[in-house]
Amino acid sequence: MNILVINGPNLNLLGMRNIEIYGSETLEDIMDWLKSASETSSHRFKFYQSNYEGKIIDTIHDEKDWAEGIIINPAAFTHYSYAIRDAIESVDIPTVEVHLSDIKHREKFRKISVLKEVCLKQIYGLGKMSYLEGLKVLINNFEKEQCNDN
Ligand code: DQA
Repeated sequence: MNILVINGPNLNLLGMRNIEIYGSETLEDIMDWLKSASETSSHRFKFYQSNYEGKIIDTIHDEKDWAEGIIINPAAFTHYSYAIRDAIESVDIPTVEVHLSDIKHREKFRKISVLKEVCLKQIYGLGKMSYLEGLKVLINNFEKEQCNDN
């Protein structure tokens, strides 16, 4: 399975940003860890991070023929980007929304996700394990779809 992992704004600062909330690992540490997890061995990955909404949308468009699943941590765009929501809906690739922190128990604005309804699942509050859980959801979904096709 070809999996596109997208990280949104300020996640490039992981490791020095709100360590008490997001932990001390860098984004690179977390992506390296994800890549080396046993669940990933038979899958191909592309990793992308941007602080710009339009670049994230362009990446979703550009990879639409390659990607068979998307794991996205849209960061603050989660809470208001109808444009990213529409991009996910338009390409119709199974997508999981993930968050390191427990967005349900932080500021009120973080409880809202405008992307959630176009994603297979929203996973939050598990730290880097949220990405791995997201991957498992994509793999299960992919296997189910293949069974249905046969
Ligand atoms: C986040 C949660 C968002 O509310 C926040 O804006 C982020 C990171 C998370 O991974 O917990 O930048 O997506």
